[in-house]
Amino acid sequence: MNLTKRQIPGPRSVEYLARSQKVEPPCMADQVPVVWDHAEGVWVYDVDGNRYLDFTSGVLVTNVGHSHPYHVEAIRQQAGRLMNCYSFPTPERVQLSERLVNMLPENIDKVFLLTTGAEATEAAIRIAKRYSGKHEVLGFYGAFHGRTYGPMSVAGNMSTRRKFGPPVPGGIVAPYAYCYRCVYDKTFPECDFYCVKALDRIVESASTGDLGAVITEPYQGGAGFINPPAGWLKELERWAHDRGLLLIVDEVQSSFGRTGKMFAIEWENVKPQMICLGKGIGSGMPASALAGEQKIFDCMSPGEMSSTTGGNPLASAASLAVIDIMEKDKLPEHAGVMGEYLLKGLNELKVRYEFVGDARGMGMALGLEIVESKKTKVPSAAICRTIILNAASYGLMLGKVGLYGNVIRIAPPLIITHEQCDVGIRILEKAMSEI
Ligand SMILES: Cc1ncc(COP(=O)(O)O)c(C=O)c1O
Repeated sequence: MNLTKRQIPGPRSVEYLARSQKVEPPCMADQVPVVWDHAEGVWVYDVDGNRYLDFTSGVLVTNVGHSHPYHVEAIRQQAGRLMNCYSFPTPERVQLSERLVNMLPENIDKVFLLTTGAEATEAAIRIAKRYSGKHEVLGFYGAFHGRTYGPMSVAGNMSTRRKFGPPVPGGIVAPYAYCYRCVYDKTFPECDFYCVKALDRIVESASTGDLGAVITEPYQGGAGFINPPAGWLKELERWAHDRGLLLIVDEVQSSFGRTGKMFAIEWENVKPQMICLGKGIGSGMPASALAGEQKIFDCMSPGEMSSTTGGNPLASAASLAVIDIMEKDKLPEHAGVMGEYLLKGLNELKVRYEFVGDARGMGMALGLEIVESKKTKVPSAAICRTIILNAASYGLMLGKVGLYGNVIRIAPPLIITHEQCDVGIRILEKAMSEI
């Protein structure tokens, strides 16, 4: 395969970027400077006609691939029938809730359909407080649960909190299992999940004695694809259970096949009392959900919590089509197989390049942590950014995450093939060779 470097942004992208700057705030995005025009499967085309292999899935959203014909047809048909009816039930909404309940662990018997991930985590936090009668929620360093005040207040990520004044009281944050940069300077498995054991001490000093729930992501995406060691989530579940705390797992990003299972909690047979879903559930159609136990939802009165577009027929029909595609094509399993293959390629890059500090992740949720050198582990956002720009000019679309802005996000649609993985690795290698 011949790799030709293209000038990006092209002239039409330049024009739209200039117009965007005039009327859109810069807080909206920090991406490769190209303007998307259309996309199909794993390929994205910009307004200048340049083609890119998509290793972003938007932001881990288009799990079934861009404009999957079955998905598109379901949306088209529903759009011609009924698009919104607020909170009146529809066949599509009820069917989607039924299917989700059947797919989730047996303790989950209710699904509250919403529109965005932050709405789902916000609802989880509010309901946890009402149900438990306690106002404190434990979250983790680096966590990202959305940009509204509730999720922001239980997350440990400065980028969502900076200069927004006092968060909602009751958020307590503790170190996550970021083994590459362990806060306790310990090593797994010798540490024996010290970071879970240490939670008692943190709660003792930070809580007012009113802790009701724990919220966590199965892996931290925004913080840089930080995957805790196998067993961590189970250990946390035990810890929460033994202290009578509700466990909320934020699967907004990790669900719908991303990690190689339909839901990441399946890896360790974890049964949270509430699960937040989003992104891949609609695969591009805005949709999210809070799934949970009936007794918990029963603390809310009829009509007390609803949302204008939550569970709307269009999003519900799209999500039903996503589940059909995932089940028929066994996309979660496929994502797992492709993830192992891609990670092998990324690990080879890690061996070859001094600035690749760590390659990690599962399924189609992988990250490359970029550092000044393996020895110092000093994060390098600058090298990370250059690699991403270089890769785009050779036709590979990547994203950037990480607590220090130094992690390359590798998250293709789950339909990717071996050959397409090879193309991606080849371009990444080329992009790195120019550093
Ligand atoms: C784990 C997690 N929770 C919540 C959210 C917020 O979702 P949204 O942007 O749809 O509000 C995100 C988005 O990136 C996420 O990754």
